[in-house]
Amino acid sequence: MCRASGRRKTFPLRRGERIGSFRIVMPVISILPSSVADQIAAGEVVERPSSVVKELLENAVDAGATVIDISLEEGGRKLIRVSDDGSGMSAEDVPLALARHGTSKIRKAADLVGVPTFGFRGEALPAIASVSQFEIETAATDGEGTSTKAVGGQIAPAEQIARRRGTTVTVAQLFYNMPARLKFLRSARSEWRSAVEALTALALTHPAVRIHLSHDGRNALTLPPVASIRSRLAAIWGGRYAEDLLDVDDVAGPVHTSGLVQRPADVGTSARRVFLAVNGRAVRDAGIARAVEAAYRSTIVAGVRPSFFLNVTLPAEAVDVNVHPAKAEVRFRDRWTVERAVETAVRRALGTLDSAASLGFRGSSFSFRPFEPPPNPDSEILRPQIDRDSPLFASDAGSGSNGHAEYENVGAGQEVAAPAQPIPILFQLRRTYIGFEHEDGLVLIDQHSAHERVLYEQFVRTLESGAAPAQRLLLPLTLHLGPAEGEAFDENREYLERLGFEVEGFGGHTLIVNTVPMPHPRFDAERCLRETLDSLTGDRVAGAAAKHERLAATVACKAAIKAGDELSQGEMRSLFAALRDTTLPAHDVHGRSTIVHLTWDEVERRFGRR
Ligand SMILES: Nc1ncnc2c1ncn2[C@@H]1O[C@H](COP(=O)(O)OP(=O)(O)OP(=O)(O)O)[C@@H](O)[C@H]1O
Ligand SMILES: [Mg+2]
Repeated sequence: MCRASGRRKTFPLRRGERIGSFRIVMPVISILPSSVADQIAAGEVVERPSSVVKELLENAVDAGATVIDISLEEGGRKLIRVSDDGSGMSAEDVPLALARHGTSKIRKAADLVGVPTFGFRGEALPAIASVSQFEIETAATDGEGTSTKAVGGQIAPAEQIARRRGTTVTVAQLFYNMPARLKFLRSARSEWRSAVEALTALALTHPAVRIHLSHDGRNALTLPPVASIRSRLAAIWGGRYAEDLLDVDDVAGPVHTSGLVQRPADVGTSARRVFLAVNGRAVRDAGIARAVEAAYRSTIVAGVRPSFFLNVTLPAEAVDVNVHPAKAEVRFRDRWTVERAVETAVRRALGTLDSAASLGFRGSSFSFRPFEPPPNPDSEILRPQIDRDSPLFASDAGSGSNGHAEYENVGAGQEVAAPAQPIPILFQLRRTYIGFEHEDGLVLIDQHSAHERVLYEQFVRTLESGAAPAQRLLLPLTLHLGPAEGEAFDENREYLERLGFEVEGFGGHTLIVNTVPMPHPRFDAERCLRETLDSLTGDRVAGAAAKHERLAATVACKAAIKAGDELSQGEMRSLFAALRDTTLPAHDVHGRSTIVHLTWDEVERRFGRR
């Protein structure tokens, strides 16, 4: 209390205010009433109806539910009801569940490491109850349950009810007591969409749980229990969508990456969908999303982004789950390792032939191994035959193992690969495609795209590691360039030289080319150099790796054999072998397929045989 002297002063007094020679030093800090504190805390956990859906679904799964029923009205703005057949709660536990920090899931700070449940804070129910008209009906054993209501966090005495084991939480009029929040809710339609997203995330992490969703009294979605994420996706977006996705399953050090990603040929053809779980918990993570995109480098065109559904598993102590108010993000102890592991896993999947564009059922993957008919002693024709001396497409000698799991036993390069992996009978169609028969169908290879992939990988290695063998021209070429091409040449000179173009400047933008690369005998060096410089004009990329890749892709495209070039058997075989040795044989460098697989299933379906 202050003692004022002289003039009487009326309250309230403000800090710092002077009365005579006294200065007011009243405390300005006061503890908020718990109802206000709860509302503020609730604001962190509950942002919109979908946050309530997420928390209630997670509680149901934590309680061991096998069946979950969700009803929404007006996208959840009016009502959200989640019922489960999980463990339920005893009458004594309900008030604790509704109190802040009331949780059955952890007891001490150390339990936070590797917590196996979604929940651990004891925040969700009190937060939701403080900003809605709330009711929880629950029973730990069939028949004996309780019903507890709360309005704006004020809990009414529980009533006894008869119900089956499990829990039903009803959340009506969310934010009815928080006008500021209410104002920020979107239309019923967009809240509904967000709620469905929350539900989808849980449905994908828990395919074995039966889920039923209704909206405004109408049945919206029924998901039967299934064994895999692929089957779940099929139930949500249709069998065709799920079938078209490619399996990822790879362990790198402590990180296991599994799930499904889009085939490069399909990227950009439908709405992008992204799902990521870390140790079974659905989270957002821009870094991992970027790592997935990085894995698609050179297999898709710039500007499109792949859909993916991935689960990353790693030791519990390597992840902190307690870093985000809505548990929507996690923190990695070693983010770099995780991102690289995900990138490698996806890259490996894209390196399989299964990632090629395929017409027909994709359950059975195919390989480069030829079709083996029943043994016929008269037939010599399927014996491995390789023209060791055909220089046209030889994969480069120093390439070493490409790190591709499928070929690891094969060792380095074509020389070793040949005896281990026979080459099928190849035939050329329209002077554009190389075809062969395979156990599961007919395979067509685009000769230009395939050669482009082969050259691209060779050129990238050359640019990274040194110079390629070049051919000295008897009569040097003279090229007159426009200013833009000249500039493109100056920018890329060092790299072009490494590829084998040894050039002298000759005043202005006239170049004298003394040596050229020799990727194959039909190579038109002058045309390649001109076209390369033309497509490099005005195009600046930062970073040496990106430059290498850009230049390698451009030169590969210009240097590769074209559609319309007739190929001999030997040439087709060596192209086939070289393609097989690349890291991403099924994809060219512009986002197109090098290989199309027409399955016998599809052929038979079209001929009405099945
Ligand atoms: N559907 C349910 N079935 C059975 N028990 C439940 C259910 N929902 C909540 N509970 C119990 O109530 C407690 C409090 O739930 P609440 O969601 O508030 O916190 P939490 O799940 O422990 O942690 P978090 O705040 O991180 O979600 C839970 O720990 C659990 O014991
Ligand atoms: Mg919870």
